[in-house]
Amino acid sequence: MITGIQTGAYVFASILFILSLGGLSSIESSKRGVLYGILGMIVAVAATVFGKYVQGHIYIIVAIVAASSIGIVLAKRVKMESMPQLVALLHSFVGLAAVLVGIGSFLDVGIKEITNTEKTIHLTEVFIGVFIGAITFTGSIVAWGKLDGKISSKSLLFKGRHFLNIFLVLVCVVLGVCFVISLDNLGLNYLIAMTFIAGLIGYFLVMAIGGADMPVVVSMLNSYSGWAASSAGFMLGNDLLIITGALVGSSGAILSIIMCKAMNRSFVSVILGGFGTVSKSSESAVIEGEITALMHDEVSQLLKEAKSIVIVPGYGMAVAKAQYPIYEMVKELQKSGKKVHFAIHPVAGRLPGHMNVLLAEANVPYDIVMEMDEINDDMSSTDVVMVIGANDIVNPGAEDDPSSPIYGMPVIKAWKAEHVIIMKRSMSTGYAGIENPLFYKTNAHMLYGDAKESVDRILGFLKSSQ
Ligand code: TAP
Repeated sequence: MITGIQTGAYVFASILFILSLGGLSSIESSKRGVLYGILGMIVAVAATVFGKYVQGHIYIIVAIVAASSIGIVLAKRVKMESMPQLVALLHSFVGLAAVLVGIGSFLDVGIKEITNTEKTIHLTEVFIGVFIGAITFTGSIVAWGKLDGKISSKSLLFKGRHFLNIFLVLVCVVLGVCFVISLDNLGLNYLIAMTFIAGLIGYFLVMAIGGADMPVVVSMLNSYSGWAASSAGFMLGNDLLIITGALVGSSGAILSIIMCKAMNRSFVSVILGGFGTVSKSSESAVIEGEITALMHDEVSQLLKEAKSIVIVPGYGMAVAKAQYPIYEMVKELQKSGKKVHFAIHPVAGRLPGHMNVLLAEANVPYDIVMEMDEINDDMSSTDVVMVIGANDIVNPGAEDDPSSPIYGMPVIKAWKAEHVIIMKRSMSTGYAGIENPLFYKTNAHMLYGDAKESVDRILGFLKSSQ
């Protein structure tokens, strides 16, 4: 392919990626955003594969077909609640790719032809690219393990960990200097040594972040994977990869900042692996009160008597796939003139926008889906709040228990309503692994069982009394 056409295709693909990000910023335009992204990627891959100097097309095509087939099967099979793990795993691939591209680019015979400043710049690019890639790789693997429950979601906080991290970074800096000034054969040893150490840094950074702060880690690793791709672009001299990586890197960083604000956490502290995080007191506040439970007919009776109802969905709704009957129930309640809204916490579920995606899947109209900040002030004038498969995001301890690990995180103030119905299967804790004093409040009632089955039964009672 002529270089001019390739450049044009790269510019076109870059525009499509920017339009894609723009589209993904609102629910209404998100499908269009995804289509722009797919089209941009097809253009980018075709322009690269059929570009100048590229040989062995048959191998590349076989690799693309095999990898795409695996990707399609994985994406089709993955359950919605396992999506965050898949995303974390995909981030690790980007990190690994940056490491392999870096090492490959160092071993490339062509490197021997460049000298002086050009060589120093190239070696620095390789070193930084492999460094970011290795951190992204191990960090993402740990994030995958934590999200999948294979590694404890508690933060690994040990004395002197910050000094250890700083020491490891300094060792990498020294290795970097040696790498850039070394003779070619020795360079590989420095590069490999740094890859292991950077991998260790990634491991410690993400292990230090616990429970409720994990959402920020997911978006932060998304950002790291963008920078890793961008650095691979520098190593390969591929402008499109630099642009695309920078788009992913900066949008991931912006998302991390937004999530930190939403959770009242310090961005710097989180990206430095919980810097400044102190272990909360093991003596959590004693919870007073008694638990009361209701049956499905009693809950439907409360709903019939209510004028205003707010539904707070959480991770359990995703597990139970309860969004479809929930919307049926909402339509039934609306038919009898009740005001019904959804309240969405920014970190509900396990993925940014998780609840919005599920509700959109069930065709819930956007105008009844409210963000936490939009609806929190209305809670005290709400008759019934239905907490469906949510736990941490409605925990009042975040407001009034300084010993709680989630203290300071804004939550949905469900307890301010006249009645709160909490629909879950047992008294077990949520992702952050902490008790929820909401369940013991006098206006709170548990409705035990799988969220979908419970909603189906309530719907049955609502319909039978029409
Ligand atoms: P959680 O606090 O994790 O609570 C979910 C609750 O759903 C559990 O207590 C569970 O109780 C219940 N549940 C599970 N399966 C159910 C089913 N089939 N039917 C009914 N209930 C079911 O969820 P949340 O309130 O959505 O809060 C999200 C948490 O995840 C936060 O701590 C957040 O920081 C963290 N997190 C979020 C993200 C993003 S980006 N959103 C990423 C990583 C981590 P039972 O077992 O008793 O049923």
